[in-house]
Amino acid sequence: MQSVDLPKKINSFRAYQDTYQRSVSDPEGFWAEQAETFHWHQKWDRVLDWDFSKPKVEWFGGGTLNITENCLDRHLESRGDQTAILYEPNEPGGEVINLTYRQLHAEVCKVGNALRSLGIGKGDRICFYMPMVPELAISVLACARIGAIHSVVFAGFSAQALADRVNDANCKIIVCSDYNRRGNKNIPVKEVVDDAIALGCPSVEIVLVHKNTGETVAWNDKLDVWYHHRVDEQPLTCAPEVMNAEDVLFILYTSGSTGKPKGVVHTCGGYMVYTAYSFLNVFQYEPGDVYWCTADIGWITGHSYILYGPLLCGATTLMFEGVPTYPDASRFWQVCAKHRVNQFYTAPTAIRALMARGNKFVEGHDLSDLKVIGSVGEPINEEAWEWYHEHVGKGKVPVVDTWWQTETGGMMISGLGGLSPQKPTFAGYPLPGIQMALVDKNTGEELMGNPESGLLCVKFPWPSILRTTWGDHERCRTTYFTTVAGMYFTGDGARRDADGMYRIVGRVDDVINVSGHRMGTAEVENAINEHEGVIESAVVGYPHEIKGQGIYAYVIVADNVAHDDALREEIIAMVRQEIGPIAKPDKIQFVSELPKTRSGKIMRRILRKVAAGEVDQLGDTSTLLNPEAVQEVIDGVV
Ligand code: WTA
Repeated sequence: MQSVDLPKKINSFRAYQDTYQRSVSDPEGFWAEQAETFHWHQKWDRVLDWDFSKPKVEWFGGGTLNITENCLDRHLESRGDQTAILYEPNEPGGEVINLTYRQLHAEVCKVGNALRSLGIGKGDRICFYMPMVPELAISVLACARIGAIHSVVFAGFSAQALADRVNDANCKIIVCSDYNRRGNKNIPVKEVVDDAIALGCPSVEIVLVHKNTGETVAWNDKLDVWYHHRVDEQPLTCAPEVMNAEDVLFILYTSGSTGKPKGVVHTCGGYMVYTAYSFLNVFQYEPGDVYWCTADIGWITGHSYILYGPLLCGATTLMFEGVPTYPDASRFWQVCAKHRVNQFYTAPTAIRALMARGNKFVEGHDLSDLKVIGSVGEPINEEAWEWYHEHVGKGKVPVVDTWWQTETGGMMISGLGGLSPQKPTFAGYPLPGIQMALVDKNTGEELMGNPESGLLCVKFPWPSILRTTWGDHERCRTTYFTTVAGMYFTGDGARRDADGMYRIVGRVDDVINVSGHRMGTAEVENAINEHEGVIESAVVGYPHEIKGQGIYAYVIVADNVAHDDALREEIIAMVRQEIGPIAKPDKIQFVSELPKTRSGKIMRRILRKVAAGEVDQLGDTSTLLNPEAVQEVIDGVV
């Protein structure tokens, strides 16, 4: 296959401004030009077809491709022997694995063949429940190779949460590991899958088990197949499934303000073009650079910026099995120095946690190869930004604060490393092709001037916008396209300053962001309510020094149950069981009533203020159904 160019890289702020203008005045021409740089089996006949009211968005309609040919095959000639995935294991002295583009291609082909031999093909859903091992990257790509749809579930979710996701997408197969080493923990991954199956996953025909640590696992001959038994003898080439640009590439579940998590759907063509374009430009990646994103592949950041974006651009992408604090809080910086990392991308919660351990952990490590350092997942507070800039970036490496979402597929507002002006806590300007808007929440009108604050929306489609929510298109419409007529509504509020730079204020809905993980308050409440002693609960976020937001639960329990720490532990255990440890409440307050409006709605605004310690800002509470409940809540705050 001929090796193709990469999308265009902007090289100055002036060029950014010109490119942005062009992308707005001629979006189709602009994105067609980027798309030309990829390998298509058949070129598109329509660049864009859209109608946000349905919503319908189609990019590169009529075009056919396989994203893994663009990630792998087209690099073989020019950089086949370059490292594609550089793997750093949990143990500092453990074996580093360098998978070159040629090796990664061969491994992906073997797994693709193995999956086909198990009867998996185009359109089938594969659930991945795996730790950060190379086999996860390999088999996700193999899934895309054969046109199956991947649904990666973060391996910290509980059996119940896993079963819910498997069943929502009717996955035919689950790919997992035996165990997962993280820090000094050894997590029984296969056991969680077994528990999920026991809860009932009728669509699952096969559990493909990767031997990671080699410890004993329970075995079910009817379902379980060893990964290595199927994969090892497979041929090293695998014909890619030729996909339509708008065929589904993957589903990724994320939390919203109501109901169960929804499966955000991304498609092949647009996602490919946008993740590559944004990766190259935001990180200003140059051939030969070593790039490291510390996310987990279970989240969108890992999908777009550990796997697809970097591999599409022929980058060397570092994949890390461990955690930032093992064996101690210098691990990130040790790894940066050891592998001479050039671009580093992490989350504010990690920055704050490492900052809190003290500067001695970051000092003395050679970070001189860093050219761009990035942040993602939640608003970064000024103190963390300054620490990151000064102690990691040594005061001179540009910080890119990248705002985006599972639904946007790629980075939307961000500086371009070293080119854009930067202001602490400001994500900055929208990327080319991204037409942001601030909207007045009362009138629904777009706010045109600067400075302004409002609901953060997008006016025009970009190639990697979500296409639907799996199995429920109406939910996609009402969640994202009805709050503001004619626009995609992000769920975030933002401010635009006099220079037109955006600062993200945070969610305006009932989604909380805990250590960069999205959590629906309703989801956590449902889990708490599963406890038999619980009558009702209300969950809100409150400011937390390390996590950004913590989870505060107000719980009403039956009279005959003791309101004590043992009960708190039981409630926490219930949440772990229903969702996973990431959703467990930090604080639980027992109350006899929740403040409600006359129509019976819980007044979350008041609960949020109390949890944040802002009791002087409660406003008028006299119109509540039960104003006396407010005082009880204040008196019992934990
Ligand atoms: C928040 C993660 C401020 C925001 C890629 C958004 C941010 C949600 C930033 C999406 C940022 C993400 N500054 N807030 N740089 N990046 N957010 O779907 O509230 O896990 O709506 O995607 O995280 O979280 P998600």
